[in-house]
Amino acid sequence: MTFTRILLALTVATCAITAATSRSTRDGVFSKAQVTRGRTIYNEECGKCHGENLGGGEGAPALAGTEFLAKWQGKPLEPLFERTRATMPADDPGHLSRRQVADVVAYMLSASELPAGEKDLETTAEALSDIRIEAKK
Ligand code: HEC
Repeated sequence: MTFTRILLALTVATCAITAATSRSTRDGVFSKAQVTRGRTIYNEECGKCHGENLGGGEGAPALAGTEFLAKWQGKPLEPLFERTRATMPADDPGHLSRRQVADVVAYMLSASELPAGEKDLETTAEALSDIRIEAKK
């Protein structure tokens, strides 16, 4: 009985810690300054394929909005970041720094009406794995 209680208490504590450390894209995980930098990069590197307003273009999918977010809903930011970093821009992949990729991802999230916060979006795989993609409420 006592053992069961201890186990239960531990489980509850672990859940509380997990909830406190994991964030979602609704929590202001990027800064406004970062969105401004990301917009410049997007216009230079991505807009010609993905459309001026991230709505998609010929053969390239939208990078903001309901359909885009539905595809990534509930996943961590890390795979979206890595997908962008390793395979985009499709005509010259891999030349953006992690900082530049974070800026573009911030711009994409902002275009999906997710809120900015105080700090820049992190660039490490570890931090990005802790942020879940959630569409705005
Ligand atoms: C030369 C055209 C081209 C350019 C430039 C380009 N992309 Fe793409 N992008 C594509 C195409 C085509 C696809 C879908 C096919 C594929 O997966 O490669 C795609 C897919 C993506 C995806 C996956 C979308 C999803 O929901 O599956 C992301 C994210 C992305 N691009 C981001 C970017 C970003 C950010 C830039 C600028 C840094 C960029 N792309 C520049 C053509 C382009």
